[in-house]
Amino acid sequence: MKRTTIIGAWTLVITLLGGGTAGCQSDHTSPLTSAALPTPTPSCPLATPTVVPNPALPNALYALVQNYHCAACHSPSGLANFQDLSNPQACYSNLVNQPATVTTGIRVVPFNPGGSVLILRLKGLGMDQMPLDGPPYMTPGEIQLFEDWICQGANPQ
Ligand code: HEC
Repeated sequence: MKRTTIIGAWTLVITLLGGGTAGCQSDHTSPLTSAALPTPTPSCPLATPTVVPNPALPNALYALVQNYHCAACHSPSGLANFQDLSNPQACYSNLVNQPATVTTGIRVVPFNPGGSVLILRLKGLGMDQMPLDGPPYMTPGEIQLFEDWICQGANPQ
């Protein structure tokens, strides 16, 4: 009886060892282990929304606002302080999609220059032409730059 028990015990040990080894090998080769998983695909750049942290009027347009001294009146301490145009960020936030205060309408309607009060003001169509103390007024080519920007969606820089 004693001899049989010892042989039985050894059989059990050998079986366990064999099973254990087989288990390790299958762990190293199984496609289900984490080592065999494909590396995560980097996030798609097209899925990232365009967020402009500090939206501003594009430089070329702001240079014209400066050349025609719009902020002489359109600044916090100026005659026309209801619409601050004294820096590129103020220009963007006070023009795009903002209702006009003096007339009806929206100052800049993205994709619609003809419906934008800013363009009517620069051309003097049906309301006082800007700059209010002009001439000089912006040339047709300069006004066209604002129209092109609005046609492209009036995007911030
Ligand atoms: C001499 C002062 C003065 C200057 C310079 C001036 N503005 Fe004005 N602006 C005003 C006044 C005052 C009003 C409102 C009264 C009116 O319609 O005449 C106005 C109105 C506007 C409006 C309509 C805003 C609304 O909410 O109804 C826009 C847009 C505008 N100006 C843009 C400009 C731009 C762009 C420039 C530069 C090219 C400019 N202004 C230069 C005095 C000025």
